Amino acid sequence: MKRLPTPSELIGEDEIRRKVAELGAAISKKYLEERLAVIAISNGAIPFVADLIRAITIPMRVDTVSAQSYVGDQSSGDVAIDDQLKIDIQDARALVVDDILDTGRTLSKIVERLRARHQPLDVKTCVLLDKPSRRVVDIKADYVGFVIPDKFVVGYGLDYDEYYRNLPYIGVLDDQSEA
Ligand code: IMP
Ligand code: MG
Repeated sequence: MKRLPTPSELIGEDEIRRKVAELGAAISKKYLEERLAVIAISNGAIPFVADLIRAITIPMRVDTVSAQSYVGDQSSGDVAIDDQLKIDIQDARALVVDDILDTGRTLSKIVERLRARHQPLDVKTCVLLDKPSRRVVDIKADYVGFVIPDKFVVGYGLDYDEYYRNLPYIGVLDDQSEA
């Protein structure tokens, strides 16, 4: 069995729950009477999107794309994307959901690919966390849960080497907590 250090809590379960409810309400209001297709970026967005869609009260569909850019805790700079969808979103407004907006490479590339390949009516973005200090590509998310400092965080979908995604809170790994 792999032993993992316990991260120190940055954002707790209750705080996440309240924020997700708020985001769900705002999205439901914005897309009322519209065809909404939520496109989650797996694997990181899985816990967030599972909670977010249950806070959305209008009819909607959900699908996933996948992207991989991090190796350990370093952004590789090169994003591998699988943008195949099981649903047709040409008549829909797409809302791309990710766990975190960091350098911006992943989200901008996915938005670009969705527009080009799937031609939805429009594309907006929603991220649980935003680390604006790390941005390399000029992109802002339309819906942001929390703006956080430049620390490597894990939990609630965010991983270190694929571990920690199942933590119910967002934490900082110890050697980083007082950085
Ligand atoms: P970007 O392309 O640099 O914006 O990175 C976005 C992706 O990198 C996210 O979907 C995450 O999977 C991953 N990522 C960025 N920052 C962190 C972090 O602090 N912890 C864990 N994963 C991160
Ligand atoms: Mg990741």
